[in-house]
Amino acid sequence: MAVIAKHCPDIKVTVVDINPEQIKKWNSDKLPIFEPGLDDVVKAVRGKNLFFTTDIDAAIKESAMIFVSVNTPTKTTGVGAGRAANLRMWELAARHIAKVANGPKIVIEKSTLPVRTAHSMRRVLNANDRKIEFEILSNPEFLAEGTAMGDLTKPDRILIGGMNTDAGKKAIAQLVWVYKHWVPEERILTTNLWSSELSKLVANAFLAQRISSINSISALCEITGAYVQEVSRAIGFDHRIGPYFLNASVGFGGSCFQKDILNLVYLCESFGLDTVAAYWNQVVIMNDWQKKRFSMKIIEKLFNTISGKKIALYGFAFKKNTGDTRETPALFVAGHLLEERAKIAIYDPKVDPEQVKHDFEEYKLMPAGCKFEDYVTIYNDPYAAAKESHAVAVITEWDEFKTYDYSKIYASMSKPAFVFDGRNILDHAALKQIGFDVFAIGKPFGSKISMDDLS
Ligand SMILES: NC(=O)c1ccc[n+]([C@@H]2O[C@H](COP(=O)([O-])OP(=O)(O)OC[C@H]3O[C@@H](n4cnc5c(N)ncnc54)[C@H](O)[C@@H]3O)[C@@H](O)[C@H]2O)c1
Repeated sequence: MAVIAKHCPDIKVTVVDINPEQIKKWNSDKLPIFEPGLDDVVKAVRGKNLFFTTDIDAAIKESAMIFVSVNTPTKTTGVGAGRAANLRMWELAARHIAKVANGPKIVIEKSTLPVRTAHSMRRVLNANDRKIEFEILSNPEFLAEGTAMGDLTKPDRILIGGMNTDAGKKAIAQLVWVYKHWVPEERILTTNLWSSELSKLVANAFLAQRISSINSISALCEITGAYVQEVSRAIGFDHRIGPYFLNASVGFGGSCFQKDILNLVYLCESFGLDTVAAYWNQVVIMNDWQKKRFSMKIIEKLFNTISGKKIALYGFAFKKNTGDTRETPALFVAGHLLEERAKIAIYDPKVDPEQVKHDFEEYKLMPAGCKFEDYVTIYNDPYAAAKESHAVAVITEWDEFKTYDYSKIYASMSKPAFVFDGRNILDHAALKQIGFDVFAIGKPFGSKISMDDLS
């Protein structure tokens, strides 16, 4: 919405949220999320044509278009629990709009939703007793956290789905007009509603599938002596494959990939497409396996006993350039290490310590009888986090991790000192030179057929 406001000075954009704390933060100097470049844009347009308010009713009344971007998490109870999307927030928002609206509105699905959600929402909206007409459009969001501002400023495409009726076409044209303020027309795709809704799920499924595919190969590399980064490079040169999203890692996280694939799996199952569902479900299974493989490797290499040993986790966000920790592999790895009663030291340049504590509580990671304070310490200095630890595990690919003085870190650690590079970002040869035992995803570690031995 900030980017729309920036590029469309002739449009008034009002952002509303039922959570007053969020709105307070959006109106303050410290925005509620860290996203490179966002502060500048918000500060440039806030109070001019971008407003944040909790007065939802007034905003509904004065708006011609309403983007609904509420959360759509995976259901935790009831039918489809663990896979289906929870549409409660969406339906509540739609009912609120239907109740308060004082004239026709275009309601836009910005949240990621299961295919055919627009059908149900249309019925909810148009069931109002004042005969107000609502047109519903699907306009899924393809931005990636960490690069959101660039993604929004120069999008690969804008996707708009609508009904193939006169009113539907008119609504599509109005939304196209908004984006045309800064997006070349050839990049604005219009489709039917169901194609648009489904494309978002499919895009995320394909992206996550690439990560799981290369991660599956990383396991094979570790055994055979191939280097996964060399394999990625070699296959990425093929223009049919392309070089992106081929970095093997500790696993994908974030609020979207897992949720959206599980949603797709559930949809396929509900339509009786069990083989299709099982195919996509394997992407999530592979991701869970990769996270577990990484933490198992730490346990195994530290002589199968990590009880009481300090292990430093570098990074807690699910990827670099964001403070977002939703579904971060760090939680999975930390939880697994805690089961073995390791002492966890966490350093992340952007994640709020309160968030880390909250996540441990929410995911119930502390084993029975163990207190968070006794087992987990959050540091604001990476050197202090590593001091006296047995291992440093890189969980997030923050660029600053590449710049540290690893000789200094090595000198302060217990010996033998290990580095587990879950992102393949460090200079492994240099670390070995310093004295570290190094394990990196997709590289052989002391295996019988090590390329290191051959060179
Ligand atoms: N985060 C991403 O990178 C990303 C990218 C593409 C799509 N999406 C999709 O966008 C949607 C939102 O994701 P998010 O990460 O921003 O979620 P979020 O949980 O961070 O934010 C959702 C916000 O909606 C508010 N809300 C809930 N019900 C409301 C209502 N009735 N009226 C007003 N506000 C209400 C909540 O208080 C919350 O602040 C999801 O469907 C997600 O899949 C997210």
